[in-house]
Amino acid sequence: MRQLAIAFGVLASGGMGATMLAAAAVSTQAAPPPAGPGLDLINERCGFCHTTAQVLTVRKTPQDWAIVVQSMIDRGAELSPEEQKTVDAYLAANYALPAPGATAPAAAPTGAR
Ligand code: HEC
Repeated sequence: MRQLAIAFGVLASGGMGATMLAAAAVSTQAAPPPAGPGLDLINERCGFCHTTAQVLTVRKTPQDWAIVVQSMIDRGAELSPEEQKTVDAYLAANYALPAPGATAPAAAPTGAR
C-alpha cells in the first residue's frame, strides 16, 4: 500500500521513467491478464456464464486447467479442439499453481450466474 502511494506520487510528477517505475511497483498486485489469443478466446467464449475476471482469479495445475476447460466445454463453452489447446496453454502458462500440491490462494468464485 505504501509502495502504491509512492508510485502514484512519482506518476503525478510525470515522465516516461516514472510511468515505468509505477508499473513495476504495482506489478505485485493484480496484474492485467497478458494479452494473447488465449485471452481473446476466454473473453469471447467463457464470459457467457461468468466473467473473465472470475476465471482468472482461479489457480490450477496445468492438468486441472485442462480438466476445467473440458468441463466448461461439456457445459456449453464453444471451443474447437485447436482453440481448446490455446486456452489450456494460456491458462497453464499464466495462471498455474507454482507446483502441484501447493496451497491454493484464497477461494476462487465458483458460483456462476
Ligand atoms: C455454459 C456456461 C459456461 C461457460 C460457457 C463456461 N463456464 Fe466456467 N463455469 C460455469 C459454471 C456453472 C461454473 C460453476 C460450477 C462449477 O464450479 O463447477 C463455472 C466455473 C468455472 C471455473 C471455476 C471452477 C473451479 O474449479 O474453480 C472456472 C475456472 C471456469 N468456469 C472457467 C471457464 C473457462 C476457461 C471457460 C471457457 C473455456 C468457461 N469457464 C466457460 C459455466 C460455464
